[in-house]
Amino acid sequence: MARFDHHKQHTYTKTGCWFLCVLGLLGAALIADFMWASSSSSFSSSSAHLSVASNWALEKSGVVVIPHVNATKIDRQRKSVAVIDKKGQDAERFLSATFADLPAPDLEWEQMPSAPVPRLDGAAIQIKNLFYVFAGYGSLDYVHSHVDVYNFTDNKWVDRFDMPKDMAHSHLGVVSDGRYIYIVSGQYGPQCRGPTSRTFVLDSETRKWDSMPPLPSPRYSPATQLWRGRLHVMGGSKENRHTPGLEHWSIAVKDGKALEKAWRTEIPIPRGGPHRACFVFNDRLFVVGGQEGDFMAKPGSPIFKCSRRHEVVYGDVYMLDDEMKWKVLPPMPKPNSHIECAWVIVNNSIIITGGTTEKHPMTKRMILVGEVFQFHLDSLTWSVIGKLPYRIKTTLTGFWDGWLYFTSGQRDRGPENPQPRKVIGEMWRTKLHL
Ligand SMILES: *[C@@H]1O[C@H](CO)[C@@H](O)[C@H](O)[C@H]1NC(C)=O
Ligand SMILES: *[C@@H]1O[C@H](CO)[C@@H](O)[C@H](O)[C@H]1NC(C)=O
Ligand SMILES: *[C@@H]1O[C@H](CO)[C@@H](O)[C@H](O)[C@H]1NC(C)=O
Repeated sequence: MARFDHHKQHTYTKTGCWFLCVLGLLGAALIADFMWASSSSSFSSSSAHLSVASNWALEKSGVVVIPHVNATKIDRQRKSVAVIDKKGQDAERFLSATFADLPAPDLEWEQMPSAPVPRLDGAAIQIKNLFYVFAGYGSLDYVHSHVDVYNFTDNKWVDRFDMPKDMAHSHLGVVSDGRYIYIVSGQYGPQCRGPTSRTFVLDSETRKWDSMPPLPSPRYSPATQLWRGRLHVMGGSKENRHTPGLEHWSIAVKDGKALEKAWRTEIPIPRGGPHRACFVFNDRLFVVGGQEGDFMAKPGSPIFKCSRRHEVVYGDVYMLDDEMKWKVLPPMPKPNSHIECAWVIVNNSIIITGGTTEKHPMTKRMILVGEVFQFHLDSLTWSVIGKLPYRIKTTLTGFWDGWLYFTSGQRDRGPENPQPRKVIGEMWRTKLHL
């Protein structure tokens, strides 16, 4: 995105309005507060059953329509926008806020009982018909330290229990073998506080917690999976919350116990950074999407106040197989991050709901994603199979009895405004037909 940054500077110089730059910087600093403005506001009751997703991707709203899933084409279209801008015309007229929405079929969504609390950057694990929803921010100044449990069979929130005091509250790496749930590192506390390397395991049958050897270095939102008898952890952000980590570690585990004393160093991931989907299919390990860079604590702030920093979102797909060399597969239809628990595997494909894409090239605002993506794991091709009720990031996604469910995250400001607003606990489902 250096092209746009460079161009922006050029425009400012040309107009001679140096104060615009100052305003821009102030604006960027304000976005952090802005995006959280109503995160603690009350929630509408979950009485709206069987509502049909509103058609938020309005065709008329965008002059730049991206008709096909093709990164080369998207790049070219963005370039042409920059050219228009260079002629000194009002850029806002040529690139709507919703330009990043992809055409997608409507799905019929049914609203289910909301989670007991709203949460952002929490985590979720599905074990059969039970959905364990961990931690997360309630608001930027408040983090949860418990687990809520949803029963997909009777569609009720059925249980709640505490997490260990030393466990991180957001940006966790989570994975399960079907009974034991491993919870790796993450951010400890609200705002943009530091991470912990502490790592835990939950026996979902006895509800007993145990600790595991800590990660060699703490990470925010590392990609985490069980593969060939080992717990693999890679990428994420380093201690300052912003710098991408490339390191990849693993430790042998069985039935909730580490079989080794220390983590082993594995082949580093080609691109580091947090908020990626990571899954195993046919004995191969996949890492999808994510970003480099993230909000950081404001220097000297006693409450570690979050302030926005440069970040770049990716749609990259990487795979490890027998060769133990990372292979690059076709990228997502658009860059997508905040999808670490937003996926399920159904019928030889991975389904991903929502996320965040690259910031708006002119306004620099964060843009949420409202599509449902499918990656066909046999043909290695992507498609856009539907729309969520709204754009939303960091959803927690499950699949049961033909229904695709999602809950929690931070949703958009409305059909015409893809910027983040309210942190929610809403739960929705749609019947999936692949
Ligand atoms: C994307 O579009 C470009 C230009 O039209 C074309 O050369 C390329 O093959 C396309 N890529 C895919 C994956 O369809
Ligand atoms: C989930 O719901 C089913 C159907 O009502 C019930 O049989 C089962 O015991 C429930 N499980 C839990 C853990 O509540
Ligand atoms: C998955 O495949 C099975 C068998 O072909 C089919 O019955 C089922 O409907 C498929 N699931 C979805 C969600 O399309």
